[in-house]
Amino acid sequence: MRKSTRCLAAATLALTLASASQSQAVTVTMACGTVGMELQMCKDGAARWAKKTGNTVNIFESPNLTNDRLGLYKQQLAAKSSDIDVYQLDIVWPGQLAQHFVNLKTKVPAAEVNAHFKGIIAANTVDNQLMALPWFTDAGLLYYRTDLLAKYGYKSAPKTWAELATMAKKIQDGEQKTNKAFTGFVFQGKNYEGLVCDAMEWIVSHGGGTVVDASGKVTINNAKAAKALDTAASWIRTISPAGVTTYGEEEARGIFQAGNAAFMRNWPYAWALGQGDDSKIKGKIGVAPLPSGGAGNAATLGGWNLGVSKYSKNQDAAISLVRYLTGPEEQKIRAIEGAYNPTIVSLYKDKDVLAKNPFFGSLYSVFTSAVARPSGPTKTKYNQVSQAMANAVTDVLTGKKKGQAAVAKLSADITRIKGRAW
Ligand code: GLC
Repeated sequence: MRKSTRCLAAATLALTLASASQSQAVTVTMACGTVGMELQMCKDGAARWAKKTGNTVNIFESPNLTNDRLGLYKQQLAAKSSDIDVYQLDIVWPGQLAQHFVNLKTKVPAAEVNAHFKGIIAANTVDNQLMALPWFTDAGLLYYRTDLLAKYGYKSAPKTWAELATMAKKIQDGEQKTNKAFTGFVFQGKNYEGLVCDAMEWIVSHGGGTVVDASGKVTINNAKAAKALDTAASWIRTISPAGVTTYGEEEARGIFQAGNAAFMRNWPYAWALGQGDDSKIKGKIGVAPLPSGGAGNAATLGGWNLGVSKYSKNQDAAISLVRYLTGPEEQKIRAIEGAYNPTIVSLYKDKDVLAKNPFFGSLYSVFTSAVARPSGPTKTKYNQVSQAMANAVTDVLTGKKKGQAAVAKLSADITRIKGRAW
């Protein structure tokens, strides 16, 4: 072969390979959350898949609050937009969004699906269609300052809300002598989905039911639920700042992590950040079940799942990304680096995961017995129910209504939303 012919042949081969890999390699767009380390960890995981497959992932930065994400995603999906291929979906959304997602039941081997907690798979299954694979699970926890409990003579975390109030007040009064910004207890008091999560914990732990029960009956109008809300209102301006009614997860974490609160209600992700090198309270954090209001402790079930849009033009690659990210290798990395609770049962026995997050083991039952919000029974209307509930709780926290009046009105509101049937 003459030299010029050889050059031409080599160039043609290179071109063929390039176009072949171009026709296979695709760009997938994934919507990621942005709370704490979420965005960076999402980018890292997606990059690992991209490296393995030769594909590219575009990251769509979703708003921080779950309600804002839902609004945005609903618009995209209603317009049948193909802009986002993979969505990060809140555990309370399947009933509202299922029709827009690829049924993964026929695309993912059963053994892979069955490695996840059964209840989470069930929550992502609507009309026998698996709309998303679980990525991480969440349950509400009580964070406390081990150093301050010891300083004020307490041996362990509070078991009841009344104990929490007493301890928080004593620590707050003492610490405020040298730190005016110090407060007893921070939680998610803003009017949004996070408040619904916190209020579920107050209500269930007082024996006030789950707002709407599994059969669809509206149960919120009861004295125990009213008492739970009045109890939470009594914290405002005594052990919690008035501003707590504007706090989401990150505002509460900011105060706790700056060393300015004795107690905090938050999700597991706050652990990894609190133990980070730049945290003022590294090594001084305890994690316990949330207190009881007389009916045992209750943690609200949260968590996020990954689904593939029916309108995606790259469904195969999108499914591959979802399977990779929800698989054991990624879930282990995320548990170790970010304290994201695995949804794969076997990872709760993994030594590296437990060494980094001891409470995954000691509070295992908190995660497995977490209480679901009533998104299952209220189906497509959950968002309306949740908004009505957040409004009712806000009325009590801001002193506009007493618990009894608020639960009576909420019951009437939910009954109206329900109409003849859910
Ligand atoms: C967490 C939970 C999610 C919940 C949200 C409320 O992200 O995982 O389920 O809806 O908090 O703010």
